[in-house]
Amino acid sequence: MWTFFCYFTVLAAWIFAYEKRIFDVTNLPVQSIIIKAGDNKSLACPGVNEHSLVLALEWLSLSHHVKLVEFMSDSTTVWDNQHRITLLQDTFGLSFHPAIAEDSGDYVCLVNSRPKPDGIVRLIVQDVPDAPGRPLIVSFTSRSVNLSWAPSQDTHHSPVTHYIIHTR
Ligand SMILES: *[C@@H]1O[C@H](CO)[C@@H](O)[C@H](O)[C@H]1NC(C)=O
Ligand SMILES: *[C@@H]1O[C@H](CO)[C@@H](O)[C@H](O)[C@H]1NC(C)=O
Repeated sequence: MWTFFCYFTVLAAWIFAYEKRIFDVTNLPVQSIIIKAGDNKSLACPGVNEHSLVLALEWLSLSHHVKLVEFMSDSTTVWDNQHRITLLQDTFGLSFHPAIAEDSGDYVCLVNSRPKPDGIVRLIVQDVPDAPGRPLIVSFTSRSVNLSWAPSQDTHHSPVTHYIIHTR
């Protein structure tokens, strides 16, 4: 299962095909941004600064294989989650208000129909880990007990450092 997952990630990083456009994202610089679920955050578009003349621009999610935002001659289309994802009019940043755990992933911004993005923005949204499994009694004596439980299925980028066991 884990091996399969790793293969999939490598393949996804190798080539990203979207609407018949194929570009190699292997050698692009990656900028990682770590935030908490519920934070408001804008991702800057790599390659755009205050002197850029932007005629067309797109934000794509590499992880979810979708186009999020398209800007073209003064019209902006947001394809999904319009209530919390917007394109900043001045900087062309992609704004999440707020970000949720599912927003975690790799994003690219294509400027003026350039064939290749300038970099990858890796957004890591930390959230509360999923609850672990129910503790089961494995064995016990009159003075001690051994418990076992399944770990959290998805820790949402928040490492589990300790567990607290309550008795009732
Ligand atoms: C985030 O943005 C939303 C909508 O613009 C606003 O209502 C909310 O107060 C902001 N939250 C924080 C933590 O700044
Ligand atoms: C609990 O597990 C430990 C390690 O496997 C073992 O040494 C110990 O005897 C077990 N205790 C009980 C109460 O079974």
